[in-house]
Amino acid sequence: MNRFSPINSKLPALWHGGDYNLEQWPRETWREDMDLMDEAGVNVVTLGVFSWVTLEPEDGRYDFAWLDEAFELLHQRRKHVILATPSAAPPAWMSAKYPEILRTGANRVRRLHGNRVNYCWTSPVYRAQVRRIVTELARRYGNHPALVLWHVSNEYGGECYCELCRQAFVKWLQAKFGGDLDKLNAAYWTRFWGHTYSTWDEIEIPGEPLGETAVQGLSLDWRRFTTDQIVDFMVQEAAPLREITPEMPIATNMMGVYDGLNPWKVAPNVDLISWDSYPEFARQPMGWDNWASVALRHDLNRSLKNKPFLLMETSPSSSNWYSAMTLKPPKRHLFEGMQAIAHGSEGVLYFQWRQSRGGQEKFHGAVVSHGYTNDSRVFGEVKLVGEALKGMDEVLGAPSPADVALIYDWEADWALKGSCGPVQGNKGYYGTAVDWYKPFWESGITVDILSSECDFSGYKLVVAPMLYILKPGVAERIRAFVESGGMFVTTYLSGYADENDLIFESGYLGPLRDVFGIRVEEIDALPEALNRRIDTVGGLGGSYVASRFCELVHLDGATPLAVYGDGFYAGRPAATTHRFGRGQAVYVGSRNETSFQRHLISRLVTELGIEKCMDWSLPEGVIVRSRGDFLFVMNCKDEPATFEIEAGLVDVLTDETATTRLNLEAFGTRIFIRQPFGGKARERTATVAG
Ligand code: GLA
Ligand code: ZN
Repeated sequence: MNRFSPINSKLPALWHGGDYNLEQWPRETWREDMDLMDEAGVNVVTLGVFSWVTLEPEDGRYDFAWLDEAFELLHQRRKHVILATPSAAPPAWMSAKYPEILRTGANRVRRLHGNRVNYCWTSPVYRAQVRRIVTELARRYGNHPALVLWHVSNEYGGECYCELCRQAFVKWLQAKFGGDLDKLNAAYWTRFWGHTYSTWDEIEIPGEPLGETAVQGLSLDWRRFTTDQIVDFMVQEAAPLREITPEMPIATNMMGVYDGLNPWKVAPNVDLISWDSYPEFARQPMGWDNWASVALRHDLNRSLKNKPFLLMETSPSSSNWYSAMTLKPPKRHLFEGMQAIAHGSEGVLYFQWRQSRGGQEKFHGAVVSHGYTNDSRVFGEVKLVGEALKGMDEVLGAPSPADVALIYDWEADWALKGSCGPVQGNKGYYGTAVDWYKPFWESGITVDILSSECDFSGYKLVVAPMLYILKPGVAERIRAFVESGGMFVTTYLSGYADENDLIFESGYLGPLRDVFGIRVEEIDALPEALNRRIDTVGGLGGSYVASRFCELVHLDGATPLAVYGDGFYAGRPAATTHRFGRGQAVYVGSRNETSFQRHLISRLVTELGIEKCMDWSLPEGVIVRSRGDFLFVMNCKDEPATFEIEAGLVDVLTDETATTRLNLEAFGTRIFIRQPFGGKARERTATVAG
């Protein structure tokens, strides 16, 4: 089995630790923390995330003594350091001295100093300040033996509406349209409602509460620009690190499917993908299958660089910004950590190590809780993760090859969000992606999560629900994929518009009509309370409930898989399949209940001979996931489960061969390896490749 190299060869183990905001605490506490970290199996901590003012209390006067000491102490205790650059929180003196660094809100009012990530993406003054402090950090700590990773800033996000940002946006538009304003007007269809621009300088930043909301192409480009501007900021922030420490890997912590930053633009500019996972388990009731949504986000992060990632933050307990701080029941924390590892994480890190006494996140869960040390329930749960991670070093670098890709496209989501109709408000892009992901997740099939701009030619099956816009080249690549034998599945609201949200002249699905063998004529958007029925043709399990979107399509070579069972379009095709070249193109015209997806996917998977990682019959709520040679068996329910597994599995943590009847406690997790890989788990030899 080929493996990926560790994140940093200085720490070739699964990482366990988290944000250590030690400037809040006196030295005795640091020493206590080190002992507690030993006990919890912590091997790495993140320093400096919001430390700018502590590092530079006055303009140009640095105080590195405390950080030097922290590095030394951690190093003596054989712990490693992820060092953050502090741009997320500029010092108050800096905002007072250079107010232009502050962010301007959508109301065009410049904000006052405070909170965090409250700076302008464009300000040359702020960029120069960031470069200065980052250069100091790189010079001082770049060669420290404890340093293993640069953590650039913290959770980049948000928009700035200042004049500098507006001008940068206009420049960006000029570059996109080659300086030709007529092209912009044509692409944005500005003649509608008389929105034609006569000069570039008339262009304002769009969006509520003051700006343009009726030119969808402009709104889309503003989102694209914001991502590009953030990435540009990040690249400049990281430049001194690249120059001074070219060997040290760089990461930034991202936020799952946060829609304000397209992570595909970030990915090529970092060495390691990392993200912060805070499953919303306070949402009551959080069904067991909501873990599919967490799984999808892990898979996305693995797919961004097609290699293992790092779970940079999670809460060891609950998060104070939830609607209610519901506690995790016993073992849930271990379950969450193992789920991350199963999907490709190289460790489990927390926000934060020690719970703050004051400030915005004083109630946020932490490893060391208010008034407790190693004697709290939460500390015990964290210790379990530390022990597990120590026992499964073999998982490090293991790949997660996939035959299936699901396209989850930021730009499609943006365009759908920006469109007035077919329904108002949430069109459910993310929920739909999770719904299509679930059948694979439930049956032990690894899925990569891609954008439409990725190369998907090597997969057997590609599922792209609601792929509303087709950027240049995408239709051609879908066509080529199907022609050469691939199976492509898409749904209602796909292929409607080009990259500027201009509806294709040839109509919905225009450039792909012949591939799918259908014509899409109309879309019936249903109010929430109204459902339709679809009846499947030829063994897809009977009838299903359709809701929200029902497209009216005409066959033009395709064969129906389902027809509508009611409404004025009863009897007309609701789902179709079409052979095209050596492959197949499947179209699903309505939003159907999950069991339809289950039946369809199960049939396609069988047809294509896509392998599941096991063929056990699992009780509802139990998920099996493979990573390399390892099988992670996870109970997503808060109740025990008992079921049969195959013979010859070795438990990686105990080295014992498992009995074929497995009892999993509530949120229980087991990690197995199949015996042909060598009896006792630890006797296996692994080949290490790049
Ligand atoms: C984010 C941030 C952290 C902290 C946590 C709390 O992930 O990066 O600084 O605020 O949320 O949930
Ligand atoms: Zn700005």
